[in-house]
Amino acid sequence: MREEEKHPDYLVLVNEENRIPAGFEDTIERIWVGNIAGTQFEIEKKTYEAFCQLQEDVLKNDGIQTDLTGSYRTVQYQEDLFAKNVAEYGFEHTNQYVAKPGCSEHHTGFAIDVGVVLDGKFYHKREDLLSIDRLFKIIQKKLPKYGFILRYPEGKEAITKIAYEPWHYRYIDSPELAQKMTEQGICLEEYWQNK
Ligand code: DAL
Ligand code: ZN
Repeated sequence: MREEEKHPDYLVLVNEENRIPAGFEDTIERIWVGNIAGTQFEIEKKTYEAFCQLQEDVLKNDGIQTDLTGSYRTVQYQEDLFAKNVAEYGFEHTNQYVAKPGCSEHHTGFAIDVGVVLDGKFYHKREDLLSIDRLFKIIQKKLPKYGFILRYPEGKEAITKIAYEPWHYRYIDSPELAQKMTEQGICLEEYWQNK
């Protein structure tokens, strides 16, 4: 494979109608990293480097301590996650927050879930994170600068088919495009529709 063919497609659209392309995982460079709770995550290298810059920025300038709670997932992992969530929350709720196996952009390695440390507690569960949305709103303002977009924004549920997730960010490797999409208020599905 030639070098340019190996360049990952940072704009790849993965959702209920667009499964992760076959062999996609071979086109990305993944690394293992640990979070504050000692959990190890696999993540695409540039995505992690960008997250570290975002993390430093919000800590220094906003006093918000963040860390990863999710990143790259195999299809098998997503299958187990979906089943576990159905058992705990039922299908309706799960279907709003967890993509079907093969249809999660976590399979790309470019998606991150971010938790927040507040009063010594590491907020990482969905219901806890939703309760501190005000902090995520501050973090979200900085996403484009580091090449991220808020992947499941409020008001786009009918298009993304996923509920508002203040913690799930998608690296697209272009601060300029991330800024443009944010200003225009378009999600990744709309970006591809308009292309
Ligand atoms: N939480 C997102 C939608 C996923 O499971 O990929
Ligand atoms: Zn996520």
